[in-house]
Amino acid sequence: EKGGYKHFMAKEIAEQPVVLGDALRHYLKADHINLPEELDFSNIERLTLVACGTAFYACSVAKYWFESLAGLPCEIDVASEFRYREPPLPKNSFALFVSQSGETADTLAALRYCKGKVAHTVAVVNVPTSSIAREADLALPILAGIEVGVASTKAFSCQLLALAVMALKAGRDRGHLSAAQAAAHMDTLRALPGLMNAALATSDEIARLAAQLAEAQDILFLGRGAMYPLALEGALKLKEISYIHAEGYASGELKHGPIALIDRTVPVIVMAPHDRLFDKTVSNMQEVMARHGKVLLVTDAKGATTAAEGTWAHLRMPEVAEPFAPILYALPAQLLAYHTAIAKGTDVDQPRNLAKSVTVE
Ligand code: F6R
Repeated sequence: EKGGYKHFMAKEIAEQPVVLGDALRHYLKADHINLPEELDFSNIERLTLVACGTAFYACSVAKYWFESLAGLPCEIDVASEFRYREPPLPKNSFALFVSQSGETADTLAALRYCKGKVAHTVAVVNVPTSSIAREADLALPILAGIEVGVASTKAFSCQLLALAVMALKAGRDRGHLSAAQAAAHMDTLRALPGLMNAALATSDEIARLAAQLAEAQDILFLGRGAMYPLALEGALKLKEISYIHAEGYASGELKHGPIALIDRTVPVIVMAPHDRLFDKTVSNMQEVMARHGKVLLVTDAKGATTAAEGTWAHLRMPEVAEPFAPILYALPAQLLAYHTAIAKGTDVDQPRNLAKSVTVE
């Protein structure tokens, strides 16, 4: 059942090019975005995205996409806060609930809170028969296949894909993207499975770096733009399976406090494709290096040529057009967590104190 892999997590990480390919074929038919007609974003004034844990980080990435590709104001929150803060909701809005299991108690309660208050409640789920899928007005499958490892991997990238496709539809519906721009973004998405295979090929290199990461007490992840929530996800993945304390920060926030933590014992993982924000992230990275932080730069060939000098190590991802790099960079983040946990000898598929589905609040 593990298909020759030692752990479900390893299998599920490796499956991502295939499941993402399946999801792409489902959601993109030539130039047509295959989403329900009712999901018409033309006159919507706001999108609210609610989830927990990794699914919340998928929503956090998607906020960047909905805002930049569709000019659609987005609100995001973790379900446990959202459900109790009595948020006012414009009638003319959609509320989106992202959940792998579709059974997370707080997310389900947040959905029930929104019902009748917004134009549509939309579930983005992996389990189509789940409570969240049944109770939402619309349910969209992420098509990741059964995920067994407690740490979510392929569900995360497939959540991102479903959200990316939705953001493109929103961009078209709202006249924010031309047909040609949308088609170019679709091509970027369709290229991802191939790029993911190249990203997976860095697994052995990551395993070698992980032997040293496993010695650390604390590890920081930095990112900017849509790579910021990916930094949060990288830190979550690492702490849940390796039990090493990890935090993700927006690169620009570093000097507002966390830089005080940096010394030669602290690895800092910088997730930075060579995009329009690259130089800014690099200058934050150099501040870390000046304080002897141990930088691992995850970037592409252009980024490595400009900025790898003086880092402890760097990993090269293939180039990916903005703004979908987080889907690709999720893979090295997952592999870093996986190999570090293996180096520490923890139980990666069944980390202590965690359950696959959190059905109590
Ligand atoms: C982390 C992880 C959790 C879940 C969270 C939400 O790897 O798996 O943070 O993402 O418990 O679960 P779902 O998506 O089932 O609602």
